Amino acid sequence: MSTSQLHTGLLTTNIALQQQAQSLAEQFGFELISELPGNAYYLCLNEQGLQLRHAGPSVPGPVRIDFVSGALAHRRRYGGGRGQPLARAAGIKPGFNPTVWDATAGLGRDGFILASLGCRVTLCERSAILAALLQDALQRAVADAEISGWVCRRLRLVHGDSSELLQNLAEQRQAEVVYLDPMYPPGKEHVLVKKEIRALQELLGPDRDSDALLEIALKSARRRVVVKRPRRTGWLNDKKPDTCIVSKKTRYDIYVTL
Ligand SMILES: C[S@@+](CC[C@H](N)C(=O)[O-])C[C@H]1O[C@@H](n2cnc3c(N)ncnc32)[C@H](O)[C@@H]1O
Repeated sequence: MSTSQLHTGLLTTNIALQQQAQSLAEQFGFELISELPGNAYYLCLNEQGLQLRHAGPSVPGPVRIDFVSGALAHRRRYGGGRGQPLARAAGIKPGFNPTVWDATAGLGRDGFILASLGCRVTLCERSAILAALLQDALQRAVADAEISGWVCRRLRLVHGDSSELLQNLAEQRQAEVVYLDPMYPPGKEHVLVKKEIRALQELLGPDRDSDALLEIALKSARRRVVVKRPRRTGWLNDKKPDTCIVSKKTRYDIYVTL
């Protein structure tokens, strides 16, 4: 965990949410703050839920995970269903929905889409900030009449490091598919990244241990490991996949472990 994460401030100006803010601070190790920090990221709890904000000028807008409405709801309804590249990469087939360990959960978008298609997904995230944002989004999803049923059945969140957890899991609990989507260093082709990704890149930096994570994933996935990469980026750990599925900007490298 980076130093910036350890000192992340959590602000709420709503008296009714003080207790909830206190519990979150204790659970994730945030410092409760009563005023805006200097030029830094902080978490804000308000009536809309938990958000990541930045107090400085000309920085990305607030980041809040929303599984119920907005872009993810649109993708869930019109994103190509079980034929979309992500679903094919995970090995979803008629009558077969693999269990998935999403080892790099991030904003939970890929894991959420796989769950919406029928997979049981463990969202594993090591950043306390992201894990707190995911927990908040899941609580709002569970309260939503339309998606509550399958969200409760198919999605669970684990705050921890997949490199450690995947090695400790009992054999029978290991997932059929381990899914990796590590942060990569910002490059020319990523100049126009969305505000959420920009915030993640600034806050967390690249995942420098993802080569090692691939090796651990290969030992624990019962069927396959799927690595999501920008289309023109090299293979993780220079390891040639068995096959890949390429879409406009993204490549899914598939390593069969059966
Ligand atoms: C690019 S984001 C993933 C985005 C995600 N696929 C989505 O759809 O929103 C990568 C995330 O993986 C997390 N991460 C990287 N290595 C990890 C590990 N070993 N265990 C748990 N989380 C990890 C990082 O903290 C970061 O939040």
